[in-house]
Amino acid sequence: MIFAAVLAGGIGKRMGNVDKPKQFLMIGKKPIIVHTVEQFCIHDKFEKIIVLCPKQWMPYTKDLLDKYLGRTDRVCVIEGGDIRNQTIMNAIDWIESNYGLKEDTVLVTHDAVRPFVTSRIIEDNISAAKKYGACDTVVPATDTIVQSDDEKCIANIPERSKFWHGQTPQSFMAVKFKELYESLTEEEKEILTDAAKVFVMKGEKVRMVEGENFNIKVTYPYDLQLAETLLEGDK
Ligand code: CTP
Repeated sequence: MIFAAVLAGGIGKRMGNVDKPKQFLMIGKKPIIVHTVEQFCIHDKFEKIIVLCPKQWMPYTKDLLDKYLGRTDRVCVIEGGDIRNQTIMNAIDWIESNYGLKEDTVLVTHDAVRPFVTSRIIEDNISAAKKYGACDTVVPATDTIVQSDDEKCIANIPERSKFWHGQTPQSFMAVKFKELYESLTEEEKEILTDAAKVFVMKGEKVRMVEGENFNIKVTYPYDLQLAETLLEGDK
């Protein structure tokens, strides 16, 4: 079985002083999270699309999705965790309680605040997760990467062709993520905010899937303007 986890458990501190977490802000005529969930609803391969958000925003999220998508049992809303990987673990626990976890249960995890994910990227994630066990969506670094150890001077300028930007989805066998995550210390769990890094740290191979430069993450107010522009260009 294949599940999608739309990660909306954050509160968007870097977006600044807004009245709701950034995933609920509008771009075009719909909230960001609705654009994102719609991209997953297109696929009939998902047994369930699990949307995870802060506990206090659960009724709001349910209402919002009902309003824009209509009532559908393909989507459910559950509570996210305090840290991003705990949000993923909540999705896995939910799958385990409701369906049982099998060796080949695939989980496609995606940031709720990346509304421009495409069908092609989702398809490639599903194929790569099934074939290789884990994958991450990436684009080649375009700027030169500069490394500094003291935030003052350059320590190194590595070869750009070896560097990529990590996006989402990140997809993997749910059982494997659970096993690896549970083997981390509490300190490691705090530091490791990235799901793919959990695999890499534990010596597991993560296949790269080609992303898109427009698959942006809305983080700062500037990104909202960029998202509006990208949406305009889509029409
Ligand atoms: N996320 C999550 N659970 C958390 C933290 C983050 O599901 N405990 C989700 C966010 O909702 C977002 C995605 O992970 O869709 C990417 O994280 P980020 O952009 O860092 O979101 P926030 O944590 O909300 O932003 P900030 O760091 O500015 O507070």
